[in-house]
Amino acid sequence: MKHFLDLATVSTREMTYLLDLALQLKMEWKTGGNRPVLQNKTLGMVFQKPSLRTRVSFEMAMKHLGGSAIMLGPQEIGLGKRESIPDVARVLSSYVEGIMARVFDHDHVVQLAENSRVPVINGLSDMFHPCQAMADMLTIREQFGKLEGLQVAYVGDGNNVAASLGLAAAHFGVTFKIASPEGYELSQPIRDKIFEIADRNESVMEMYVMPQEALQNADVVYTDTWVSMGQEAEAAERRKEFDGFQVNQHLMGFAKPETIIMHCLPAHRGDEITDDMMDGPQSVVFQQAENRLHAQKAILVHLLA
Ligand code: CP
Ligand code: NVA
Repeated sequence: MKHFLDLATVSTREMTYLLDLALQLKMEWKTGGNRPVLQNKTLGMVFQKPSLRTRVSFEMAMKHLGGSAIMLGPQEIGLGKRESIPDVARVLSSYVEGIMARVFDHDHVVQLAENSRVPVINGLSDMFHPCQAMADMLTIREQFGKLEGLQVAYVGDGNNVAASLGLAAAHFGVTFKIASPEGYELSQPIRDKIFEIADRNESVMEMYVMPQEALQNADVVYTDTWVSMGQEAEAAERRKEFDGFQVNQHLMGFAKPETIIMHCLPAHRGDEITDDMMDGPQSVVFQQAENRLHAQKAILVHLLA
């Protein structure tokens, strides 16, 4: 692979390789530190939206691997406004060895990649969050010692995080069960892609309207915000539509007692998830957040070293 834009265009073999490498780099980091395989390499980080995890984990990953990162916030380069996206890509890629971009419109990260001389990584777009899904798979594998045969139930918006999680599950033989309110399901093209990859890997995707049904026999329950960045104007309406989709003690009563709870964060405590579920013994959300660092190191080493 040349870029890392979505999990539909990455092969299952590469995904497996990246996950193995992430585990290896995590172990290496925990037992003395990583080798400086990205020495003298710099990652340009373009952000059109706020970020804690993506921004800091990419910057620290580069540092741990002997390289460096430059943060370019929305006020700095005005992607597509001050300068056209192809021009930004041509210029930026003549200075740095890799680009990571968080954008509103997925097509903008595609345009960056098409015009860049160096690898481009999607750090979240309106359609996908592939780096998150790699950290999620790493976390699930650590928890259960395997991926194949597990069931992941996603409760909530059929958004960027759900799309990447569904694609990742399809690659790894994980059953993906998604429950969304009517009108907030995964888009048809993304469903088609998940089914296509799932077919190749003996994985399954099931869609539900009732979260209770999705939770039955699930090993993992996953949720994300009801209001993604850029959808703030719809917040009040969305809160109404997602009534009944909160991950709380009552809903978790439909799952097995040992089911783990995941969230990509930031969480909107009291909306999609309650405090007791976020902070309770089933939650692995902070391990999951830490794993962004380790999973992304693998992506960086694979593309930049
Ligand atoms: N999960 C995630 O991408 O977090 P940030 O928005 O803080 O980067
Ligand atoms: N779906 C959320 C994920 C944030 C990491 C958003 O796009 O805002």
